[in-house]
Amino acid sequence: MNKKVAIVGASGYSGEELVRLLLNHPHAELTAVTSRSCAGRTIAQVLPRFALQPRAKSLRFTQPNAERLAKQAETVFLALPHGVAAEYAVPLLQRGCQVIDLSADFRVKNAAVYKEFHAHDHAAPDLLEKSVYGLPEIYRAQLKNAPLIASPGCYPTSVLLPAIPLLRDGLVKPTGIIADSLSGVSGAGRKLEPDYLFVERNESARPYGVPKHRHLSEMEQELSLAAKTPVTIQFTPHLIPMNRGILTTLYLAPAEHFQSRTGVSPVSGSSNSATLDQVAEKISACYQSAYGDEPFVRLLDPGQSELPDTRNVVGTNVIEIAWRLDPRTGRLVVMSALDNIVKGAGGQAVQSFNIMCGFPETAGLV
Ligand SMILES: NC(=O)c1ccc[n+]([C@@H]2O[C@H](COP(=O)([O-])OP(=O)(O)OC[C@H]3O[C@@H](n4cnc5c(N)ncnc54)[C@H](OP(=O)(O)O)[C@@H]3O)[C@@H](O)[C@H]2O)c1
Repeated sequence: MNKKVAIVGASGYSGEELVRLLLNHPHAELTAVTSRSCAGRTIAQVLPRFALQPRAKSLRFTQPNAERLAKQAETVFLALPHGVAAEYAVPLLQRGCQVIDLSADFRVKNAAVYKEFHAHDHAAPDLLEKSVYGLPEIYRAQLKNAPLIASPGCYPTSVLLPAIPLLRDGLVKPTGIIADSLSGVSGAGRKLEPDYLFVERNESARPYGVPKHRHLSEMEQELSLAAKTPVTIQFTPHLIPMNRGILTTLYLAPAEHFQSRTGVSPVSGSSNSATLDQVAEKISACYQSAYGDEPFVRLLDPGQSELPDTRNVVGTNVIEIAWRLDPRTGRLVVMSALDNIVKGAGGQAVQSFNIMCGFPETAGLV
C-alpha cells in the first residue's frame, strides 16, 4: 500500500526536489504541499516542469498547518529553513506522523552544542536524543521505523561518508583533519538576498563561514562517534558559480607512516614504517567493505585516473569518492562529489524514507 506523504516548504530547492521524487515514487502518494507564498496555486503553476504529471495539475499548495497535515499524510517531509522545523515536528509527532526533517534542527544530539553553533536555544531539546541521523550508509538499522529522521545536508554528507570508514577502522589520525568544500549557489536556498544574485556570484568564488561554519557541529559529532574520541576538524566552504553540486577535498594523516616507493618515509624518516602499497591496500579494503555494496556510493578506482566530478552526479542520488596517497607529503587526500539537492537533501531523505517504511532502498531514486 502506498504511503501518504506531505512536504512542508515544497516551493524551495529541496522541497522542489522532493516533489519530483515523490510524484514519481512507486510507493508514495503526495497528498499535500505547503508554501506560504504559493498557497492556492497548483504544483503545475508554481513548478511548470512537473506540468505533465496529472497530480501536479490537481494538487494545490496550502498554508502550512500541522493539524491539517497530520490528517492528510502519514509521513511529513520538512524542507524548512533552520530553526523552524520544531514548530511543525512537535505537533506532527504528537499526532502520530513520521517526520523527516531536512534542516539541521535535529541533527546535533547535544542542546548546548546546538546553541553554541546556532546562537539560540533549541525549541524541542527532548527530541534531540530521539531523532536518528539520516545517513543511510551509516545508520541503516536505526532508520527502520524511526519516528523522527534528521536528514543530513550536503556538506556533512560530503565529508562524513568519505571520512567515517577511515576513522572507524583507525586508518587515519583523528587530529589535524582539513576539509575544503566547493558548493553551487542553490546550496543557499531559493531566497532573495544580494549575495546570491547572478551578478554577485557569476565569475566569482569565495569562502564563507570561516572558521566556524554551523555544520561543523554535526560533522564533529559524527566523526567523533566513528573515531571513538573527540574529533575537531578545519572546514572551509566556498561558493562557486555553479547551480548545483558539492565537491569536497579532505586532507588526512594516515595512522601508519608509510614509505614512498623510493624508500624514504616523508613523515618520520623511519625505515620500519609500512610501504605505500601496504597502506593503500588497507584503505582500499576499508572502503570496499564499507561501501562496496552501497547502491548510491560510487568508489572510483585509485588505479585509474578518474576523480570525482559534480557533472557525474548532478540529478542523481550518488556520491562519488576517490582517494590518493601522497608519498611526498605523507598525506591521504580523499575527494567526494554529490548533488547538494539530491544526495545532499531530497534524495537522501527519500532513501531514508524507503528504509523507514521497509520499501526497497532505491525505490523512486533510480
Ligand atoms: N539547498 C540545499 O542545497 C540544501 C541541502 C541540504 C539541506 N538543506 C536544508 O533544507 C532546508 C530547506 O532548504 P532549501 O534550500 O530548500 O530552502 P529554500 O529554497 O529557501 O526553501 C524554504 C522553503 O520553506 C518555506 N518556508 C520558509 N520559511 C517558512 C516558515 N517560517 N514556515 C513555513 N514555511 C516556510 C518556503 O516557502 P514560503 O516562504 O513560501 O512558505 C520554501 O518553500 C534548510 O534547512 C536547508 O539547510 C538545503
